Amino acid sequence: MNERRGIVLAGGYGTRLYPITLGASKHLLPVYDKPMVYYPISVLMLAGIRKIAVISTPDDLAQYRRLLGDGNQWGLSFTFIEQAVPEGLSQAYVLAKEFLEGAPSALVLGDNLFYGHGLPEILRIANKRTSGGTIFACKVSNPEQFGVVSFDDKGRATAIVEKPPEPKSDYAVTGLYFLDGSAPERAKKIVPSQRGEYEITALLESYRAADKLAVELLGRGFAWLDMGTHGNLLDAGNFVRTLQLRQGTQIACLEEIAYNNGWLPESWPSDHGAFLKNSTYGQYVKSIMGIV
Ligand code: TTP
Repeated sequence: MNERRGIVLAGGYGTRLYPITLGASKHLLPVYDKPMVYYPISVLMLAGIRKIAVISTPDDLAQYRRLLGDGNQWGLSFTFIEQAVPEGLSQAYVLAKEFLEGAPSALVLGDNLFYGHGLPEILRIANKRTSGGTIFACKVSNPEQFGVVSFDDKGRATAIVEKPPEPKSDYAVTGLYFLDGSAPERAKKIVPSQRGEYEITALLESYRAADKLAVELLGRGFAWLDMGTHGNLLDAGNFVRTLQLRQGTQIACLEEIAYNNGWLPESWPSDHGAFLKNSTYGQYVKSIMGIV
């Protein structure tokens, strides 16, 4: 069976986070108690996806390998793919063509955090649509800084436009795209935009124009945070800390999601002693597993 595969896009220059990202990849930075890349990986896991490609720069890929390993500790399987030059989000589909082997995919941006009641259900519904694509739109106060989706009076998407100076709606397209197996072929046909990038909006627009794009609205009960600026990075860390302390549950604890999905390997957790002992994250994992 051609099961949906995941892609985490963790390349780019991260120029808005300079000078921090002159020495470290953005998606390895801490967002309160875990590396940023845990948050998008958790979204793919909640969607039920186990085969995941991590795309990053040639310089940074070794660190992702070190952090994530082969994924077996979470019942996942990671493939690492280089993006030699960050020339745009839709390029990911061209780079991941072999990895995908014609399967549908879910691509998540490495600097996006999604959190909200009912998220796993929405993701699993999107996962079931194997033809066409699904995107997730969220109301924002500054739509001109995002890809914007507009709607007709029946709620059908009429256009997807990258950073429009005069947005036709307040709905930003978030960094999570469920697309069918035709995405790499479609992505190959895209030409660079005026700013020189292979735009994701161009790829999504090709699905929309063919009437093959579903748009799920993430309502008030959802938080969607982009962690790409100094302020947003700090806000995301504070958001995670506030919720975790208040509720006593973790956001994006990969062991917990794997455990709930029944994916943890037999060998777990006997080889995780030091990891479980010294950090609050590890202590939480212990409590989930009932380890004393
Ligand atoms: P951006 O935030 O648009 O770009 P960036 O991360 O390089 O940051 P900046 O604008 O500060 O220079 O990218 C969104 C996400 O996609 C981010 O997680 C990095 C990733 N990305 C790639 O992996 N490859 C690419 O070619 C691009 C453009 C982005």
